[in-house]
Amino acid sequence: MRTELSFAPLSGIATELLAVLAADTQTEKGPEAKPQPTVLTTDAAVQAAAAAVLASGEYKAGANETVLLHAPAALAAKRLLIVGLGKLAKATVHSVREAAGTAVRFAKPRGIREMAFALPSSGSLPAAGPAGARAAVEGAYVGDFDADTYRSDRKDQSIQSLTVAAAADADRPAVEAAFTEGVIVGESQNFARSLVNEPGNKLTPTILGQRAALMAQEMGLQWEVHSTEKLHELKMGAFWSVAQGSAEPPALIVLRYEPEGAKDGPVLGLVGKGITFDSGGISIKPSENMDKMKYDMAGGAAMIGAMRAIALLKPKVRVMAIVCATENMPDGKAQKPGDVQTAMSGKTIEIINTDAEGRLVLADGLTYARRLGATHLIDAATLTSACVVALGHANAGAFSNDDAAWARFDAALAVSGEKFWRLPLGEEYAETIKSEIGDIKNTGGRWGGAITAAEFLHVFAEETPWIHLDIAGMAWVEDARPYIAKGPSGIAVRSIVEWVRSF
Ligand code: BES
Ligand code: MN
Ligand code: ZN
Repeated sequence: MRTELSFAPLSGIATELLAVLAADTQTEKGPEAKPQPTVLTTDAAVQAAAAAVLASGEYKAGANETVLLHAPAALAAKRLLIVGLGKLAKATVHSVREAAGTAVRFAKPRGIREMAFALPSSGSLPAAGPAGARAAVEGAYVGDFDADTYRSDRKDQSIQSLTVAAAADADRPAVEAAFTEGVIVGESQNFARSLVNEPGNKLTPTILGQRAALMAQEMGLQWEVHSTEKLHELKMGAFWSVAQGSAEPPALIVLRYEPEGAKDGPVLGLVGKGITFDSGGISIKPSENMDKMKYDMAGGAAMIGAMRAIALLKPKVRVMAIVCATENMPDGKAQKPGDVQTAMSGKTIEIINTDAEGRLVLADGLTYARRLGATHLIDAATLTSACVVALGHANAGAFSNDDAAWARFDAALAVSGEKFWRLPLGEEYAETIKSEIGDIKNTGGRWGGAITAAEFLHVFAEETPWIHLDIAGMAWVEDARPYIAKGPSGIAVRSIVEWVRSF
């Protein structure tokens, strides 16, 4: 998708489809209070074209509610699409992000390849500034993605050209900068999604390493991709314990962003779970839904996508990403329940369940990031089904050993619009993973599984300020929504990028 920014009057934009926003301005409550849908533009021709349908009562400007008008009078556009934000008082920057995705996803299956999206007019919404421009661009990219690369009959071809129309009286340099950021972040989120969408046979650990290296080369990041020998050299016994059961060699992917003039300050370590297929290993999973375990590298993909954005946005802080990529397979060489492994940190781990493999690869990833000088850690992983039980598909789980680190991440969420819910850590949970055989064991029993998994990682993050993101329930969209397709979501890319930029 090509995107461009325009400050031209909306009525003059010659396009296949012009999307404008509407909101419900009704402030009264109760049964008498009918919705008052209002378009968020000062363009008189758009207001006139929309007037009849807004007055009809058929369209209420609910969140992502759409209505299409053909051949709107006095507009150069062939079609006018009105996209709702819901109640005006409740509309946020993220509502604009979703609305832009909805507009794109409305156009795609109708064969429309070129369109325009009007940002809300100045002052109509808190989101009517540069933040809204960035969110709209991000949302449009998110909406443009479909997980259908392997279908011969692909119908939902991409939108080729999108014009984002900003108000003539906008702060132009600020809106231009925000627009550019939105393109970078949106494309990077989709890059992560394209990796997550690849099936296990097409994206082995080696190929994931190659894709990351190619991206790094294009974006000017430093990179290294190691395999078996290096795991042995670094004594990554936890990571290797998972990799030993696969015919595919593992990949230890290291990406580095080291800007001039950030020689002292913090070093951010991004650590991602990169299980390109999780069969469960010897503790094999049931076959129902096992196909979904191709997305068990979504945390790793989020880190690779975030690094792409960081390379282009150029924040003044050093960042490294470490992605531990391997398959988790049953095999004659696979590890067994009861085995004891020695992690890179020296801690011994009793393996109770070989399906709790994510925490094993991350243990060594976190240790390695600290060894390479990371002062702040963030990891992302499709780690536990317990997290999905706790939070469903509406929030991802988040954990931190440091309230200041959490506060910084929480602030990033307000910008990214992504939903993470902080869950507790605690000594009571840490108790459950103590082992009689070794230092710790890799599962903590039935209850609080997302938390006990986090406590396992905590053992390796130690005192370094650290955030753990459990994205198991959010990495794959199970039910398509108006603004996002079914398939990989790209969750965590935007929040991690924003977190990095806050340093
Ligand atoms: N990759 C899975 C977790 C997962 C489940 C991700 C569903 C996405 C959707 C992880 O490796 C796993 O198998 N976890 C086990 C841990 C258990 C054996 C302690 C789980 O959550 O069941
Ligand atoms: Mn597993
Ligand atoms: Zn897994």
